Amino acid sequence: MTDVSGAPADVLHTLFHSDQGGHEQVVLCQDRASGLKAVIALHSTALGPALGGTRFYPYATEAEAVGDALNLARGMSYKNAMAGLDHGGGKAVIIGDPDTIKTEALLLAYGRFVASLGGRYVTACDVGTYVADMDVVARECRWTTGRSPENGGAGDSSVLTAFGVYQGMRASAQHLWGDPSLRGRTVGIAGVGKVGHHLVEHLLAEGARVVITDVRQEAVRRIAEKHPSVGVVADTRHLIEVDGLDIYAPCALGGALSDDSVPVLTAKIVCGAANNQLAHPGVEKDLADRGILYAPDYVVNAGGVIQVADELHGFDFERCKAKAAKIFDTTLAIFARAKTDGIPPAAAADRIAEQRMHEAAQARGW
Ligand SMILES: NC(=O)c1ccc[n+]([C@@H]2O[C@H](COP(=O)([O-])OP(=O)(O)OC[C@H]3O[C@@H](n4cnc5c(N)ncnc54)[C@H](O)[C@@H]3O)[C@@H](O)[C@H]2O)c1
Repeated sequence: MTDVSGAPADVLHTLFHSDQGGHEQVVLCQDRASGLKAVIALHSTALGPALGGTRFYPYATEAEAVGDALNLARGMSYKNAMAGLDHGGGKAVIIGDPDTIKTEALLLAYGRFVASLGGRYVTACDVGTYVADMDVVARECRWTTGRSPENGGAGDSSVLTAFGVYQGMRASAQHLWGDPSLRGRTVGIAGVGKVGHHLVEHLLAEGARVVITDVRQEAVRRIAEKHPSVGVVADTRHLIEVDGLDIYAPCALGGALSDDSVPVLTAKIVCGAANNQLAHPGVEKDLADRGILYAPDYVVNAGGVIQVADELHGFDFERCKAKAAKIFDTTLAIFARAKTDGIPPAAAADRIAEQRMHEAAQARGW
């Protein structure tokens, strides 16, 4: 998947004329009364209505916002396809600082724009939007997920995201060491926020050794007080260089795997929740060259989107958990395809997702 960004003319050119574009629909939304400016991008509806969250962010330029919406929507097509969902990929961005411009009126106006798409796009939370915001959007738009349990939603998605990452780790262990058990393995987690701290619990329950780091001391303290056996290191650099680290789990921000970090990784497996872990195309090959098994981020962190998709059918936690457990098999299938095709797992995941979208489009006669 390649980045799409640049000036408006470049974005339009990419959208209509290059292999990186190919989006079905891009909607620019403005409500002058509330100050809403938003971009809704639908990459593909081949598998079903486009599903993806709403990012609320102070983009430096409008072109940057459009580029981000296009990239994120495309990423959702791949994530939803690999998660086995009957959903295509879409994403929306609201331009502005949520701390200063987010109001009820703005969210309601946004909800009306999403509703105007008649179900082609289903929205959810993302950076800068929360469960409480989706409750407001849902008042104008029934194609809204990520709502609170009081309003028929599934609430916090990090529980199943962590569970899915844990399944991805077990599959990676199965592939590399012939045994899915993580007992006795040392796992380093960078970022113990919503997802990371649930992941710690799964790993300890299985008998793994856990080492953590986080820039927020209270996040570290919360875990260290509850689990004194958990090791703590000062920062991510120290974590990835820990002697005897078996698995590295990036659970903070994107770009964790870069020209800087990959050469010094001591772990044999990378499997974590963070989105966009590969800093640039080519890093997946550097990992493979060093014999490090990379479980593609959008495959193993799909537990959250599995949860919000389920909300449309009346949320059932056990049904969702069973779906998220399949991340184990999906991850194994990707490693097998990578081996057969002689390509890194990230490329294999892209191929499998593209194949599923292509077949769905053909079945619809597109
Ligand atoms: N929450 C979900 O359901 C979900 C679903 C899919 C993907 N993700 C991705 O997983 C990652 C974590 O999500 P979350 O919901 O736990 O977010 P979060 O904000 O609750 O947790 C992230 C943690 O990382 C820490 N952090 C930030 N920069 C750091 C650094 N340089 N070094 C170490 N720690 C650092 C933060 O202090 C925070 O505690 C994000 O990349 C997110 O996009 C989350």
